[in-house]
Amino acid sequence: MPLTSPLTEPALREACLAARKVARSAYAPYSKFRVGAAVVGKRGLYCGANVENASYGLTLCAERAALSAAVAAGDRDIRAVVLAFLDAPRTGEGLELVPCGACRQWIAELAPSAGIYIWNTRKWYTPEALLPVAFSLPTGERKRRRAAR
Ligand code: THU
Repeated sequence: MPLTSPLTEPALREACLAARKVARSAYAPYSKFRVGAAVVGKRGLYCGANVENASYGLTLCAERAALSAAVAAGDRDIRAVVLAFLDAPRTGEGLELVPCGACRQWIAELAPSAGIYIWNTRKWYTPEALLPVAFSLPTGERKRRRAAR
């Protein structure tokens, strides 16, 4: 967990408000568990909510919706991913308010230097702490170096 927030207090407050607000737009008729994500990029704030489907496995998580919005806006310099699990009870046996495995893989690839903050628990995580050995493919520089060998 990073000891210090990558965001200023007002920026963190703004991202938390945005995550909570967008969570109210979640389409979660099956789980009734609304999640909001606010991705803080160099140039702006990008929001996403979970979108479920009658074919349950097709559900899109809030994190991936927000990360897609940041990529679509051309803002790949992501500083923080702020999450609001709106319908989570305050405490509970086996309750872990953290991104799911698929979203961790997305965060590892698209926001490797970001801090991940959970509004409900006020905890910061690093992508590395959430997914220590993330899958990756050789791209860019590594690929060029390999081809030159
Ligand atoms: N969900 C997210 O949006 N993000 C997560 O990291 C965990 C799960 C959503 C998916 C589904 O719509 C609902 O929460 C219950 O799993």
